[in-house]
Amino acid sequence: MSDSSPAQRILPQSLRIFPPDWTQPLPLAELFGNARPIELDLGCGKGRFLLARAAAHRDVNFLGVDRMLRRVRKVDNKARRLDLDNIRVLRMEGYYATTYLLPPASIQTCYIFFPDPWPKARHHEHRLFNERFMDALHRALVPGGVLHFATDHLPYFAEVRALLLADPRFEPVEPFVPTPDEQTDFERYYVGRTEIGRCSCCRRAP
Ligand SMILES: C[S@@+](CC[C@H](N)C(=O)[O-])C[C@H]1O[C@@H](n2cnc3c(N)ncnc32)[C@H](O)[C@@H]1O
Repeated sequence: MSDSSPAQRILPQSLRIFPPDWTQPLPLAELFGNARPIELDLGCGKGRFLLARAAAHRDVNFLGVDRMLRRVRKVDNKARRLDLDNIRVLRMEGYYATTYLLPPASIQTCYIFFPDPWPKARHHEHRLFNERFMDALHRALVPGGVLHFATDHLPYFAEVRALLLADPRFEPVEPFVPTPDEQTDFERYYVGRTEIGRCSCCRRAP
């Protein structure tokens, strides 16, 4: 294969994605090596959920996105050790990735678990979830595709839930509750200690 082939941009032995062009939608089928459905874990952290889910669903592709290099490397190393070739990891800011790097209607399911809550009012603008992000999410999900959201920060939860309920492009569905082996690191810490807000919705078909 020539150097210009996007598939070559995955480092040998690595499951990380290095986009051939950071301004263009990723050639996801080429990067995964197949056209199976893709599930996205946005802010995947150390990847406990992503790895468990990918191991249990080998016929589905999983894309983990996180902006912290250390975490992305950790997920990459663990996924390779577990031989999970249905995982790819991308180090990138979540809004940018959803808006510019995910092709339209490419994601079957998006998981956003325990995103940074930025609790101080003057920092709310740093939150991932807002109306602009809803547009990006709507564009990236396939019609009928689902978002699952969970957080221990109840004011942030109320805000996200209100945004979703007010948006006619989305329809509420049963919230996702992970099995114990699929709990994220943050979920494992908070479960039983504090209330966890969960909501899920699906992108309505046009
Ligand atoms: C609180 S941790 C939760 C990690 C994991 N989802 C869990 O539940 O254990 C938030 C993660 O999201 C990442 N993150 C925060 N803001 C982000 C953004 N705008 N884009 C991509 N990743 C982000 C952080 O680096 C961190 O790994």
